[in-house]
Amino acid sequence: MNVYDSARMAEVLAPLGYAPGDGPEDADMVILNTCHIREKASDKVYSELGRLRDIKDQRAAEGQQTVIAVAGCVAQAEGEEMLRRAPYVDIVLGPQTYHRLPEMVARAHRASQSGMRHSGVLETDFPLESKFDHLPLQRQENGVSAFLSIQEGCDKFCTFCVVPYTRGAEFSRPVAQVVQEAEALVAGGVRELTLLGQNVNAYHGTDTAGRETGLGSLARRLSEIDGLMRIRYTTSHPRDVDEDLIAAHGEVPALMPYLHLPVQSGSDRILEAMNRGHDAESYLRTIERLRSARPDLAFSCDFIVGFPGESDSDFEATLDLIRTVEYAQAYSFKYSSRPGTPAAGMPRQVPEEVKDERLARLQALLMEQMTTFNEASRGTTCEVLFERTGRHEGQLVGRSPYNQAVHVEAPAHAVGDMATVFIETCKPHSLAGCLREEGQPKGDPREEERLSA
Ligand code: 5AD
Ligand code: SF4
Repeated sequence: MNVYDSARMAEVLAPLGYAPGDGPEDADMVILNTCHIREKASDKVYSELGRLRDIKDQRAAEGQQTVIAVAGCVAQAEGEEMLRRAPYVDIVLGPQTYHRLPEMVARAHRASQSGMRHSGVLETDFPLESKFDHLPLQRQENGVSAFLSIQEGCDKFCTFCVVPYTRGAEFSRPVAQVVQEAEALVAGGVRELTLLGQNVNAYHGTDTAGRETGLGSLARRLSEIDGLMRIRYTTSHPRDVDEDLIAAHGEVPALMPYLHLPVQSGSDRILEAMNRGHDAESYLRTIERLRSARPDLAFSCDFIVGFPGESDSDFEATLDLIRTVEYAQAYSFKYSSRPGTPAAGMPRQVPEEVKDERLARLQALLMEQMTTFNEASRGTTCEVLFERTGRHEGQLVGRSPYNQAVHVEAPAHAVGDMATVFIETCKPHSLAGCLREEGQPKGDPREEERLSA
């Protein structure tokens, strides 16, 4: 979502004459868009700011002004404190106020021109008006695949997570606004949309008749847009997978058979302490229901190891759940204590070395599953949407329905095309294959030959 937000900030500033630059050294303005989700991401901000301060000083010595703005969730969480700790920062703004950037920039300029020592511009409220009502239509070069935020914020309050505090309450954009943005993107050449939200399947935007619309119905509506080939969405919560969304996976061919559905832990005790609102059994049932609607659906997941109070047997329960589901892809993290969240104050924090050991075991198992998943593609065919040209002449690189990168010799094709590809080789981070010609039968001896070559 920060990628999406950064692009939108650049667009808001374009009418003022700003355009994205190559680096901070010759920039009139630098916006640091920050993430607060784990301590490591958060810590990076101040070290990066130190570097920007040096650049600002050097440019000032050459008579050039540099506006430094810090946006995103660290800015939201730190607020005033950031202006105190880094007084050379001109603007601190939260994720819900960036539509007001032009006005903030003007204020920052006025303050610095007045020559008075000023404390910087701070905009970290949660305005009643939605920023989306004030943003221009997306118009930057998006390529073939683009992000589209449809939902923001979260009311779930998992006990480890800062999102409800930094992104604010759950909010869904109206259907017409989403459709309008999607249509503009597709008119500009986009063929694949990834719908974004911290809790994307809690989406409940209103349609023009004022009726609430869920994610399943939104996907159906978007799939009617001529030229839109693929729809993905992230990140979902197991509790918000409803019947309509499951049905949509069975009915809407554009909805890709690949779903990020984080469970965090496989232990009921830990899930309860995390306030996830579901147990391992109900998660597994949800996966089963989705698989019955769309048998080729593959799953990816987020895991946290070392949540306070996590015992060896809790951790084993997570490994068991992983063995049951068999993931195509996964992201795993050591629990990171976040100030202000309930879990930060919980007893029985897990020692760092235990977290390290558990993370290594968890990742080894997940790596096995990811490799198995990728290797299973060898000898199969899939639709590949070409996203960019490859290193060699005539080569294109695209994505499989499962978001795997696929390298193909396809001199007669162009970026934005979709083609049927026979997968021949499988590397850890990409696949390679050849075009299956129209009418070429399955099990073609030429393909068999290529496989055994
Ligand atoms: N510590 C570790 N991982 C976290 N995540 C969120 N908060 C924390 C935390 N405090 C992870 C979750 C979430 C992903 C985006 O980041 O797994 O799904
Ligand atoms: Fe954070 Fe996701 Fe839980 Fe919301 S549902 S509190 S965003 S982990």
